[in-house]
Amino acid sequence: MDKKFYVTTPIYYPSGKFHIGTAYTTVLADTYKRLKQLQGYDTFMLTGTDEHGQKIQTVAEKNGKTPQEHVDEMAEQAKELWKQMDIHYDYFIRTTDPKHKEVVQKIFEFYLQKGDIYKGTYEGLYCMPCESYFTESQLVDGKCPDCGREVKLMKEEAYFFNMKKYADKLLQYYDEHPDFIYPEYRKTEMINNFIKPGLEDLCVTRTTFDWGIKVSSDPKHVIYVWLDALANYLTAVGYMTDNDELFKKYWSPDLQIIGKDIARFHLIYWPIFLMALDLPLPKTIFVHNWIMMKDGKMSKSKGNVVYPEKLIDRYGLDATRYFLLREMPLSQDGLYTPDSFIERYNSDLCNDLGNLVNRTVSMVNKYFDGIVPEYTGIINDVDKEFEEFAQSQLEKVVNLMEKYEMANAIQEIWALISRTNKYIDETRPWELAKNEEIEKLKSSMYHLIENIRKIGIILLPIMESTSKNLLRQIGIPEELQTWDSLKPYDKLKNIKVIEKGEPLFLRKNVEEELEYLRS
Ligand code: MSP
Repeated sequence: MDKKFYVTTPIYYPSGKFHIGTAYTTVLADTYKRLKQLQGYDTFMLTGTDEHGQKIQTVAEKNGKTPQEHVDEMAEQAKELWKQMDIHYDYFIRTTDPKHKEVVQKIFEFYLQKGDIYKGTYEGLYCMPCESYFTESQLVDGKCPDCGREVKLMKEEAYFFNMKKYADKLLQYYDEHPDFIYPEYRKTEMINNFIKPGLEDLCVTRTTFDWGIKVSSDPKHVIYVWLDALANYLTAVGYMTDNDELFKKYWSPDLQIIGKDIARFHLIYWPIFLMALDLPLPKTIFVHNWIMMKDGKMSKSKGNVVYPEKLIDRYGLDATRYFLLREMPLSQDGLYTPDSFIERYNSDLCNDLGNLVNRTVSMVNKYFDGIVPEYTGIINDVDKEFEEFAQSQLEKVVNLMEKYEMANAIQEIWALISRTNKYIDETRPWELAKNEEIEKLKSSMYHLIENIRKIGIILLPIMESTSKNLLRQIGIPEELQTWDSLKPYDKLKNIKVIEKGEPLFLRKNVEEELEYLRS
């Protein structure tokens, strides 16, 4: 099947509340799911929670809960947030699901029998109180980087995955599949930093804690959390089970979205794990940057964490999604500041988009009793230039979206919005009305409504309720709200705008909002 689209987010560590950085990946994946759906694809979006490992065990203990109680609560919180953010995922996987656990055990045994996993000894610098191994270079003044205490050289029996065996095959795969990693510089990083210097075999079991999936043939070992977690993309669709229709239908993923911090796991270990299972690899793994604060990374200790609810409650979901998607460039980190948030809200959403719709609706009401005049063809150079610009701009936007350059795509949508606002100043409808230049006035109104319709459609995957509201206000029927209807320019007939335009976004007082956002 060629018209299917399987998109995944990383599965999240349920160690604390999700902030806007964590929400970014999911919003982006959701945007692509909606985009592909509009384009007629049969889509499947996966998200979930990564519930095993020492980190989770420690957090649960701190909260006076069993790990299971803790992850149950957190998985519910995550689902609640995605509901609030209107994320259209199809399946929510939890790595504590019995089905997932069983398949991970089967995968482990398969590797073991094949000889890709072997038993050896793990040697490393171990911090007893933190129950963690560190490498020489991770130590701070020769001590544990987390608690500052002495570390000890320790040895333990462990299982290893033979990564070395697959290094050349992986390089060859990278070479033959230019779309596999995007943006491309992430591939170069992997090659130069990890593969060329010599890929180490990976220790895939632990015995220092037990909150994880046990190796079925040797249960004192717990499977390494990354092997467990990466397998979710397979187990969620029923791989190695009797109920594997989804796997047959959707494998392999068309788009896997991850943040830069987990690139090594997804760009090296994950494809190797799949090669070892003889499975097709994902088509594209897209690595995004991080949303940063003025003073660096978001962290609880710095007290600079922003939670999505804070923005959604006051500015609505669409403004929040818009900001996140707009502020993440391809080649560097995005920046959140209260000032930039409120600037985007007032300037991009209220002024540029909101006013365009409002002014146009009121002009159609004033000059034509709310009935949009029909297309009369291009009647002058201004219209010609505007129409051509709009069409080529839309193509540009779609191309950027297809190349996963969402922030640039949005920037170009706003260039089209600005150009449409400029068209009002160029055609000066109020003068055309005064001078009774009716043909020109009709053409001006048609072009405005038609462009707003297209802007509404192209914004659907990004901010659905605003787009729907906009399309409703300009009276567009369902059949002209489709992705396929983006191209034709002359199809509007019997269209009636609403009698009184409603602002899409209400302008806010900057000082008051800064106070709220900084609190
Ligand atoms: N559990 C692993 C993923 C396993 S996937 C098989 C994990 N979880 S996480 O909760 O720590 O992170 C989830 C995602 O959020 C990652 O893609 C990470 O890059 C992303 N982000 C975390 N902080 C972020 C920002 N400040 N900005 C953008 N994305 C950020 O890693």
